[in-house]
Amino acid sequence: MRKQLTILLAVIVSVFTAFPSSAQFKKETEEQKAERMSWWTADRFGMFIHWGLYALPARHEWVKNRERITNEDYQKYFDHFDPDMFDPKAWARMAKEAGMKYVVLTSKHHEGFCMWDSKYTDYKVTNTPYGKDIIKDFVEAFRAEGLKVGFYYSLIDWHHPDFTIDRNHPQRLDANATEEQYAALNKGKDMARYRKYMKDQVTELLTNYGEISIIWFDFSYPGKNGKGRKDWDSEGLVKLARSLQPGILIDNRLDLNDVDGGWDFITPEQVKVDKWPEVDGKKVPWETCQTFSGSWGYYRDETTWKSPAQLIELLVESVSKGGNLLLNVGPTARGNFDQRAQDRLNAIGGWMKFNSRSVYGCTEAPAEFKAPANTILTYNPKTNRLYMHLLSYPMGKMVVPFGDRIQYAQFLHDGSEIKFSKDGNGIWSISLPILKPDSEIPVVEIYLK
Ligand code: GLC
Repeated sequence: MRKQLTILLAVIVSVFTAFPSSAQFKKETEEQKAERMSWWTADRFGMFIHWGLYALPARHEWVKNRERITNEDYQKYFDHFDPDMFDPKAWARMAKEAGMKYVVLTSKHHEGFCMWDSKYTDYKVTNTPYGKDIIKDFVEAFRAEGLKVGFYYSLIDWHHPDFTIDRNHPQRLDANATEEQYAALNKGKDMARYRKYMKDQVTELLTNYGEISIIWFDFSYPGKNGKGRKDWDSEGLVKLARSLQPGILIDNRLDLNDVDGGWDFITPEQVKVDKWPEVDGKKVPWETCQTFSGSWGYYRDETTWKSPAQLIELLVESVSKGGNLLLNVGPTARGNFDQRAQDRLNAIGGWMKFNSRSVYGCTEAPAEFKAPANTILTYNPKTNRLYMHLLSYPMGKMVVPFGDRIQYAQFLHDGSEIKFSKDGNGIWSISLPILKPDSEIPVVEIYLK
């Protein structure tokens, strides 16, 4: 009898492990979700930070994959990780001065290296020559500057012994390899143990570092020789994160796009969306993540850096379609933001100092306001003000189709009046000075009737 009971119990347990947590998430109304996300939709601008061992090779955070490097050969970066100039307070100041309101740091990227003193691995920062818990100092410094803190956590792990080799792995097989070939290769590896490892680590990250506002899981690639929700137990991860940090925001890379409550915002990467993205016909919260150049991790020889004007445009463009911008910095192996990044942050900050009113709390303008050529419109629904960003500076008069709705207009950077009038044909225009103001992208602030 006793034996039968034990067997029955074992069967029940194995059924639960095979089909992890398919139960529903806690229900939330659309209003409740909007309320939970309201700080984020108002703040609009965050800093992404990709930092890990890949800062040493300095040729892309996927270097281990691209060059098919083995754990043994990658070890030299671990052995030499010693960012002696790491000064999280300076980073936090730079982010704040650029106008960023939140930050998302890679706690672990695909290489598997952990930036905190995790109990569950030796492959962590405290075992490198640097020896200190980076996450701890980082979190304190950014919080002290008033930024909300989030963690990126890679679902992918190219170091963990139980993470099965798949088509995205450095030790992948040829593109036409069969599932059987992969199964043979992965003999002895156990993804159930890896799932447990992830949960233990997420628990550490969301328990030991105070309030964490965002968790950015990355990423899924379901299908042949790929990985998706079952491999990660995505639903279990979402539940865990929400149970530890009830207000936390979760991105949409867990392969749960069709699951109600499985994500909070969508994450178009390195693209300019052409309109406010929709899911099932509904506009959804979204955030584009973008690099200064072509890499997330520090890439010494990469030179395709965007200009300050392009970056500011990216920010207001996102806001004008109801979205956020998460702009990435890849710190160096010494622990610095390299000069190219600092120059751009400074330029954005210079602009934000005078113009952030067109970003914070703003969103897409109501449909009745059509943006004149070479302008981007944002709108603050609370103050009922419209912001017209002049991408290419016009000469003198400029026709504005919504002129009859203007109550008062001024340049945002200096609060100087902009006159507006209607001509004999009923066409409205504003009068701008010939000289372009000393502002990367001048903004006209319009108080609406
Ligand atoms: C991708 C890449 C990764 C980067 C991320 C940022 O998924 O794998 O290197 O961290 O995008 O969005």
